[in-house]
Amino acid sequence: MEVDTVLEALRSDLQRVEDRLLAETALEYPLVSDILRGLVGAGGKRLRPLLVLLAARPFNYDLERLVPAAAGIELLHTASLIHDDSIDHADLRRGHPTLNSLFPPEIVIMVGDYMFARSAMLAASTMNPRVLAVFANCLGSICDGQLREIFSARRVDLSLDDYQRRIYGKTAALFAGSAEIGAILGEASDEEIDALRRYGGYLGMAFQIVDDVLDLRESTEQIGKPTGHDLRQGTMTLPTMLFLQKRLGDAATRQLVEHVLRGIADDDDLRAAVLAIRHSGAIEQAVEIARHYVDLARESLQGIPPGEARDMLEAVAEHAVERHF
Ligand code: IPE
Ligand code: IPE
Ligand code: MG
Ligand code: MG
Repeated sequence: MEVDTVLEALRSDLQRVEDRLLAETALEYPLVSDILRGLVGAGGKRLRPLLVLLAARPFNYDLERLVPAAAGIELLHTASLIHDDSIDHADLRRGHPTLNSLFPPEIVIMVGDYMFARSAMLAASTMNPRVLAVFANCLGSICDGQLREIFSARRVDLSLDDYQRRIYGKTAALFAGSAEIGAILGEASDEEIDALRRYGGYLGMAFQIVDDVLDLRESTEQIGKPTGHDLRQGTMTLPTMLFLQKRLGDAATRQLVEHVLRGIADDDDLRAAVLAIRHSGAIEQAVEIARHYVDLARESLQGIPPGEARDMLEAVAEHAVERHF
């Protein structure tokens, strides 16, 4: 099954989530409200709400219950992006200027917090304490992952284990939580909920590895956010780690990449470092590892009943490594 088929089948359900999301951007501060509407309206891939819906689909699929949870998850993601772009000093998101490129930090922090609050209210409206616990856990994990990233910035001696923990926290935990929440609201069994949580976690790992690949492989126009940005920020990602640790370049090029990571290089060096990593085979090796996580995600699906919904979840996992934005 193709991912387009999945999106087509869920189009009207996802539109309900979309309507709910837009409704949440109305603030009484017109300037901020406009920016938020721009951010939400610019349309991300909506992968996390899709997971919430799909995880419930093999079970008791009650859209009235699922929409607020799916919108809440996407809003949590949106809030985390507002803070992430501020932390990363990024000026472009979904092809639009970021809040932090337009407003001072005090406004960005508060708008991010406000969005976190609105997302929590949506989660609370499910009146399901288990959902709320997963939700709170996800927020804690994102903070943990982001803090790990901040504390490991500009270091060139990180291990694969450091990297995996960091990306589980900042990204995979929310994918795991999205699938788990869908399964909980669908009244799946504990074993099925656990299988879907694991599926989401593995998918999230693959998704973040591919995000890290895109940062090096694609153009800014293609992904709607600045490329080469991880290196510029001194963030060690999997392709760069493989490049350095597996000695995929010559000594001089490895030193160049380390200088860029340490922040003692100029824009020309950054461009050269990106090109060196791109042409070293590191990208392909990272994609292979992402593919391995997708395989684990698919295996986890053995824990839920076979059928159309399970095929859809498989298609979404496959798409995570094939995507170009
Ligand atoms: C961006 O997530 C942050 C990461 C976890 C890599 P997405 O790539 O899902 O962003 P949108 O929502 O589609 O813009
Ligand atoms: C994902 O990491 C951040 C969050 C999960 C909040 P990135 O910093 O790589 O995300 P992008 O590349 O800015 O979208
Ligand atoms: Mg970022
Ligand atoms: Mg990124």
